Amino acid sequence: MSVLTIRNCLDPVLRKKCDLIENIEESLVTLTDDMIETMYNATGVGLAANQVGISSRLIVVDLGFKDEQHNPITIINPVVTASEEEMIGQEGCLSIPEVYADIKRFQRVEVKGVDLNGKDVRLEVEGFLARAFQHEMDHLEGKLFWDMLGKVKRDMLKRKFKKMLKEMQE
Ligand code: NI
Repeated sequence: MSVLTIRNCLDPVLRKKCDLIENIEESLVTLTDDMIETMYNATGVGLAANQVGISSRLIVVDLGFKDEQHNPITIINPVVTASEEEMIGQEGCLSIPEVYADIKRFQRVEVKGVDLNGKDVRLEVEGFLARAFQHEMDHLEGKLFWDMLGKVKRDMLKRKFKKMLKEMQE
């Protein structure tokens, strides 16, 4: 397994809608392993394939870092099939380091997709896990969490991000 480079929000690959995965090839299994390793290395709770430059509908999610027990969930071609109740909570993104905002998401969602064996999966998730799924699935649509905010707030966060990026490069 290897740690991949996480693209930041200025990379156009993050603005492109990802392609449906038609065949589960060995390279996809390797990509998934690398994405999980990359997510852990960055202490994130989720990662979408386009965040490592691959425009395919694949996400990994794991809240396990909190209790140091890893339990990664991989879903190919995920879709939300049911949702209920909205909640506001703080959100960040590995492609927008150091920037956080309160974002409205569904409290509970049902997600369907397939796993690496091509088997149908159906998950009912809630709370922060539901938030993580919705965030990662937005990535597959080419969306970033700050798109949910008004322009004034978003522009403020963009400036904050660009300033942080500049500081990192100095
Ligand atoms: Ni993200």
